[in-house]
Amino acid sequence: MRYVYLVTLFVCVALVSLLGLRGTKFSHPALEVFPDWAFPGMKEQPKLRPQAESTFFADGRADRLPPPHTVMRRAFQDANGRYDGDDEALYLGKDASGQWIKGFPTAITVDRKFLEHGRERYTIYCQPCHGMLGDGQGMTSKYGMGSLPTNGNYHTDRLRQMPEGQIFDTITHGSASKVMYPYADKLSPEDRWAVVAYVRALQRAGQGTPADVADASARKTLGLQ
Ligand code: HEC
Repeated sequence: MRYVYLVTLFVCVALVSLLGLRGTKFSHPALEVFPDWAFPGMKEQPKLRPQAESTFFADGRADRLPPPHTVMRRAFQDANGRYDGDDEALYLGKDASGQWIKGFPTAITVDRKFLEHGRERYTIYCQPCHGMLGDGQGMTSKYGMGSLPTNGNYHTDRLRQMPEGQIFDTITHGSASKVMYPYADKLSPEDRWAVVAYVRALQRAGQGTPADVADASARKTLGLQ
């Protein structure tokens, strides 16, 4: 009989502790069973609060600058995932009438440095699938990607003729089959245009002929004469 009382008591305590105090707000600090001063742990560790001052870093700021090319979360996007920058060509790859732009937005200057940046980003984000030459023979092609109906080969007439704006949009939103996922969270709009420029460079290189090498000594080095 004694056990019945004990069990009932236990059930009551369990019910109250599980259900009864839920959502209750306490105004006093919680009772610490293992106080930090007696059992030092990670709870009260030295830390810097966002936007606070710090004597540790030379610039006096607690926050660190993000590394270069970090893409802001939801950069240029509104809550529905739509890009709301006012330069449609730069952010959407479209002109005022909603057509894909051919060439590059006026805000972009394509020069050697820009292309090199495009190559660097391409090597990180695209080469695993599209390959060093853009022929779709990246590492993933050895693991099944090449057996897809379209393996991401840039050297087809369709992709050579694809407007720059549409390539930009493919990088922003991923490919139609979604095998290639969107890169808007990894590449800023400027990064994406740099990659577009590099895709164009790969396509041009794919159609290169000996006549493209104007320098006679370079022709010799390459064994073209
Ligand atoms: C996970 C593998 C993968 C990665 C990484 C990838 N792609 Fe793709 N991409 C594909 C595949 C596969 C296709 C072929 C179309 C399809 O199957 O959806 C494709 C198609 C394309 C197309 C043609 C789209 C069309 O309409 O035919 C472009 C342009 C392209 N990719 C550019 C890029 C660029 C630029 C990057 C790097 C930012 C990139 N891709 C990264 C797999 C990838």
